Amino acid sequence: MKLNLQQLNKEFEKSSAVALLQWALRTFGSKITVASSFGAEDVVLIDILVKLDPKIRIFTLDTGRLNEETYDVMDRIREKYHISIESYFPDFKKVEALERAKGFHSFRESVENRKECCGIRKVEPLKRALQGVEAWVTGLRRDQSVTRTDIQKIEIDEANGGIVKISPLADWTNDDVWNYIKKNNVPYNKLHDQGYPSIGCAPCTRAVKPGEDLRSGRWWWENPEHKECGLHLKPKPFAHDPRPTTHD
Ligand code: ADX
Ligand code: SF4
Repeated sequence: MKLNLQQLNKEFEKSSAVALLQWALRTFGSKITVASSFGAEDVVLIDILVKLDPKIRIFTLDTGRLNEETYDVMDRIREKYHISIESYFPDFKKVEALERAKGFHSFRESVENRKECCGIRKVEPLKRALQGVEAWVTGLRRDQSVTRTDIQKIEIDEANGGIVKISPLADWTNDDVWNYIKKNNVPYNKLHDQGYPSIGCAPCTRAVKPGEDLRSGRWWWENPEHKECGLHLKPKPFAHDPRPTTHD
């Protein structure tokens, strides 16, 4: 399939998340999946997508270190929308080896150790989740952090075999997300009511004070430019790239 990303991004930059997702469902059919950590953005995506296609595939990376409130919202979503959530668990041998060698909080000791843990608990399971898939949908937004300001709604994910990565909420604000949740009565993670704007694994996420950066409670001991776990590596730029912009 040939996609002109530059043209598509131009077209969908101004259109709604629903319009982009309708196009994505038409284009990729059953070869599309949604990555959900069940944070505020992700429950919005699930609400939109299940209404467009009740058979949409939704997967989550259950790192084994999630908060109880996250498991709770997963069940509430399952029940409300009558869906099954494909959970991917880390390779138990790798987790056992890591814990035996470095203990249970090695991720606090260095960025390398943190990335090692994210690699085992998130990145490797992601590769399995994306096998055989042509496109994945994420809840990334540009104003979430310095590492995300230039994401495009449609990108080629070189780190995952060159499949298409779609972020329909890229231009949404935090208020847009919450207005949608309230208006549509979407179940959400109760930690959001306790000062957690962004939620990952329990030991690597904490509440933030009003006015603090949305992701400042994630890996709070690290500098902002390091705060990616490897799920979202920067794609090859194409918007201003002189190279051909079509994708096979
Ligand atoms: S993270 O990379 O720092 O963890 P963040 O929590 O902001 O990312 O989430 C961004 C997007 O990545 C989510 O909207 C979702 O699409 C995907 N994502 C993050 N964590 C998971 C997870 N545990 N399972 C599935 N998808 C996830
Ligand atoms: Fe490990 Fe923390 Fe990354 Fe979760 S967020 S995989 S516990 S380092």
